[in-house]
Amino acid sequence: MSDKILELKKVSRYFGSVIALEDIDMEVNAGEVHCLLGDNGAGKSTLIKTLAGVHKPSKGEYFYEGERVEFSSPRDALDRGIATVYQDLALVPLMSITRNFFMGREITRGWGPFKQFDQDRADQIALDGLAEMGIKVRDPQQVVGTMSGGERQCLAIARAIHFGARVLILDEPTAALGVKQTSNVLRVVAQARAKGLAVILITHNVHHAYPVADRFTLLNRGRSMGTFLKSEVTREQVLEMMAGGEEMEKLEAELAEFTRSDEATA
Ligand SMILES: Nc1ncnc2c1ncn2[C@@H]1O[C@H](COP(=O)(O)OP(=O)(O)OP(=O)(O)O)[C@@H](O)[C@H]1O
Ligand SMILES: [Mg+2]
Repeated sequence: MSDKILELKKVSRYFGSVIALEDIDMEVNAGEVHCLLGDNGAGKSTLIKTLAGVHKPSKGEYFYEGERVEFSSPRDALDRGIATVYQDLALVPLMSITRNFFMGREITRGWGPFKQFDQDRADQIALDGLAEMGIKVRDPQQVVGTMSGGERQCLAIARAIHFGARVLILDEPTAALGVKQTSNVLRVVAQARAKGLAVILITHNVHHAYPVADRFTLLNRGRSMGTFLKSEVTREQVLEMMAGGEEMEKLEAELAEFTRSDEATA
């Protein structure tokens, strides 16, 4: 479990006078699900965008597979095996499942002027990739716009795995999903880990985070409050970390107050 694949050392990221990240130290291992926690604006998205080559650190060092890296674009990071699935997804609703699966990496047959997209093989690979995630599709020519949110997430993840991702970054993949689709996505996350990928997962839902995560890193106003093994923290503590401690206590007190006044009027 201590097969370190990426590491940040004292990474900061500023946007003008806004300090989005300050002095972040973080390690991510292959074969683990690493959950990123923190309130709105804590810097979670900025952190994963820095890992994914969207933002360059303003300060600090980024190591990937033991080597210092400075990605100049998301494509750069993707070519090294760091795949990111954003909440709004980079899928094209009007294109088919297969086309989306291979977007930008089309497989061809023939050569020279006779080269053409190898539709049959591509269809089969896309179908197999999805089937492995427990998603049954009748027709890979079906447009992605007709798939459910959960199926689209799984398609994006299947694509990343097929093209050899070693690190899979998911920003709130379950935010808009129902119970069944969520469990599908979480199952796929567990499968990715079993294949030895490092998965970095952002979610606001403790019931999604806790069962699949191996470690948690807590961000608070751009700073890391540390990384915790699941065995070191309870579900309640994680919930508190997500909401930022104090707030949660206040909320609980308020809710208790509501319940009391409800009972009084009943
Ligand atoms: N491109 C940008 N330009 C200026 N400020 C930014 C930019 N991106 C992020 N920020 C600021 O950095 C801080 C961290 O934002 P970030 O999006 O990383 O938070 P987050 O933890 O992902 O929040 P949420 O849970 O709401 O998605 C915020 O104060 C935000 O306004
Ligand atoms: Mg965010």
